[in-house]
Amino acid sequence: MKRNSPQVVDMSKLEILTYPEKFLFHPVEPVENIDGGVQEMIDKMAATMYAAPGVGLAAIQVGWGKSLLVYDIAPQRDERSLHVLINPRIVVAEGEIISENEGCLSVPDFRSDVKRAAAVTVEAADREGKPLRIDAEGMLAIVLQHEIDHLQGTLFIDRLSSLKRELYKRRMKKKLRMK
Ligand code: NI
Repeated sequence: MKRNSPQVVDMSKLEILTYPEKFLFHPVEPVENIDGGVQEMIDKMAATMYAAPGVGLAAIQVGWGKSLLVYDIAPQRDERSLHVLINPRIVVAEGEIISENEGCLSVPDFRSDVKRAAAVTVEAADREGKPLRIDAEGMLAIVLQHEIDHLQGTLFIDRLSSLKRELYKRRMKKKLRMK
């Protein structure tokens, strides 16, 4: 679908929700109509991701419960390559790798190794509504799995052993009490 709003580069940033915000744990709804509101959200999400800085951001992380994510695994200023996935889903997942030191903008001050599929195939629509199929491995496969997890209401800490997860939760509770 074509853009139906004038192209305005909106550099305003959005607030990123962080654990233990409950909204992060609810699965999102599909995007039904790629309208001007969606385009505006994409621009704001991109600005928010680059400013963070992050390599990926899902709409749910900025409080919008729709199936939409942006990513750029080459975030150097001169080589920006923004990708937008609307209603993405993993159709093939193969093998296993350890994603080293994974982190998340919604899970502050914590990183951990996470077990991930080594290769995935993702189907989605781009921001014009054109169907996409991405065969990914390595860093891209990890980012796609991490961001698509967000859309199901799953954080990377949900993929850790319960011991590690509890340690993080206890640490966060303590921190919040001290505020
Ligand atoms: Ni994340």
